Amino acid sequence: MTEAKLEAWLEETRSFAPSAEFSKQANAQPSIYADAAADPVAWWRTQADRLAWTTAPTKSLEWDLPNAKWFSDGMLNASYTCVDRHVEAGNGDKVAYHWVADAEGEGRTITYGELQKLVAQAANALTELGVKEGDRVAVYMPMIPEAVVAMLAVVRLGAIHSVVFAGFSAEALSSRILDSDCQFVVTADGAFRRGTPSPLKPAVDEALESCPNVKAVLVVRRTGGEVKWNEGRDYWWHDVVERQSDEHTCKSFPSEQTMFIMYTSGTTAKPKGIYHTTGGYLTHVSATHEYIFDVKPETDVCWTAADIGWITGHSYIVYGPLINGVTQVMYEGLPDSGGKDRWWKIIAENKVTILYTAPTTIRTLMKWGHEWPQGHDLSSLRLLGTVGEPINPEAWMWYREYIGGGKCPIVDTWWQTETGGILITPLPGITATKPGAAMTPFPGIDADIVDNDGNSVGNGEGGYLVITAPWPGMTRGIYGDPERFKETYWSRFPGKYFAGDGAKRDDDGDIWLLGRIDDVMNISGHRLSTTEVEHALVGHPSVAEAAVVGASDETTGQAIVAFVTLKMSAEDASEDQVIVIEELRNHVAKVIGPIAKPRQIILTPELPKTRSGKIMRRLLRDVAENRSLGDVTTLMDPTVVNMIAGLMDSDADSEE
Ligand code: WTA
Repeated sequence: MTEAKLEAWLEETRSFAPSAEFSKQANAQPSIYADAAADPVAWWRTQADRLAWTTAPTKSLEWDLPNAKWFSDGMLNASYTCVDRHVEAGNGDKVAYHWVADAEGEGRTITYGELQKLVAQAANALTELGVKEGDRVAVYMPMIPEAVVAMLAVVRLGAIHSVVFAGFSAEALSSRILDSDCQFVVTADGAFRRGTPSPLKPAVDEALESCPNVKAVLVVRRTGGEVKWNEGRDYWWHDVVERQSDEHTCKSFPSEQTMFIMYTSGTTAKPKGIYHTTGGYLTHVSATHEYIFDVKPETDVCWTAADIGWITGHSYIVYGPLINGVTQVMYEGLPDSGGKDRWWKIIAENKVTILYTAPTTIRTLMKWGHEWPQGHDLSSLRLLGTVGEPINPEAWMWYREYIGGGKCPIVDTWWQTETGGILITPLPGITATKPGAAMTPFPGIDADIVDNDGNSVGNGEGGYLVITAPWPGMTRGIYGDPERFKETYWSRFPGKYFAGDGAKRDDDGDIWLLGRIDDVMNISGHRLSTTEVEHALVGHPSVAEAAVVGASDETTGQAIVAFVTLKMSAEDASEDQVIVIEELRNHVAKVIGPIAKPRQIILTPELPKTRSGKIMRRLLRDVAENRSLGDVTTLMDPTVVNMIAGLMDSDADSEE
């Protein structure tokens, strides 16, 4: 699209009125905001009625900052609420998942009735392997149905899953297993990516060399072929799960039973084990899923194109949609497995009505060109969503025009691993939408934008996003580190939850998210901390010092740029710079995972430092983004940064 066309387009379409079609529908209740605002806690209590409680809660919120309890005297079983109760209500034949495999034409359809049996068998198998209430179970799986089954089976037993994204390295896996002392691992021999098997089990084997407490590893056979086997520790899923009874009577657990841990990057090198409990989390994800996506369980086919290894997969592939009893698509492959129009084929073949994905993917699909979607019937789509990073207006408009046929509302949903579910978003039948704005807090959510002193900013002004009242899906803390929880989220502005995101209110008072204001980067919607990558780099024997910044990138949102000083002399290094850089990039991939590979590494004899010895990352970001350098007077040696800018230029030249 030419710049002029985009300008004209945006001029015409500053804002889209709420969808008339949606306003007519049952879920769009114009009074929902007022009802929730009148008494948010009572409103959330009514939302909790969507769960299958065995003992209904009489308590709603108990709040002892920063510790919240929601519905604490209620009892329920998460997996029963997601699956069994739909079967008992006569909906056992309804499709829960159309699982679409990486290879075209392959896949599997699983009804709620079948899912119930699979979960029961898996729960029986885990029990046989020794999993008990409160135990931690690591799940390191590709996007296959067994991943969902494993998660549901774990929580069915009152145990805690810690799903680790299968793109993380052995080292990242072992540090997560150790941090929460997981004694069990569920994994697969491998995954398929564009038809090619890519092994997973070797990473588990390597990780477990440093995890002596792991008693059992349950392995799904997905790719076939040889795997190393540790007798007495490793078990095939098809040997142990498939011979189990497909009935399992489940116990109820208290609402505040811990359900899962999800590691996410903060501002330090060590990822945080964010944990969530049961009743509040499930209430939040099912309510947000229904209202924001305007879900009609009888007719909708929802596709959340995300990975189960991230919070989006937990909340909007597993728990929210299952509680709401909808049919979903779950896809194993990459956007171009089988061709650049694979997504559009999946939508047409499965008559997907609601698509939810990340801006980075939309930008990639956009780059491939609108010829790819145009050949396919996408008329089943009626609502589009985005999550994970700010969406640029051009991508928003492309999504609307070429995927949504100009008729589908777009919900830009802001939330975090810590928030459990969506907090800021339009509601399709009620809120106007603007390309690039998340608009408004969800009913029952109290958000604000504040300045440095914690005062609310006015319209047209920017500041820090804070949440000013507890909500049901909020994390209950960092696993094993209550102090860090308080310090990270509740001390910057006392009494308010500090999200770490910059935001502004426009002249109408609507909210725009502006990206992280801390050392967290957002690479293709994946959260990584600058310190985590620096830590990996300085762990390499030739590296003396490293500074990492997230520089803006057209496709991935941000990209990692690392400035590295080596222990060897500059002359030695200059001889094989290319080899050194490649080795360092691979080293980061090995320590964290391929998603953390720096886009660019600049070898420099020095880093710009203040007189007190602090690395000036702000200046490095300016350098990485080719901006003119601001104030350099606080630098110990102002010439250093110009030298680095020169290195950066010559690096760009050599890439061309
Ligand atoms: C960013 C993902 C702008 C934000 C669900 C947040 C967004 C971080 C949006 C959390 C959005 C998420 N607009 N930015 N709609 N959604 N973010 O924990 O910086 O992986 O703090 O959770 O993603 O990332 P996380």
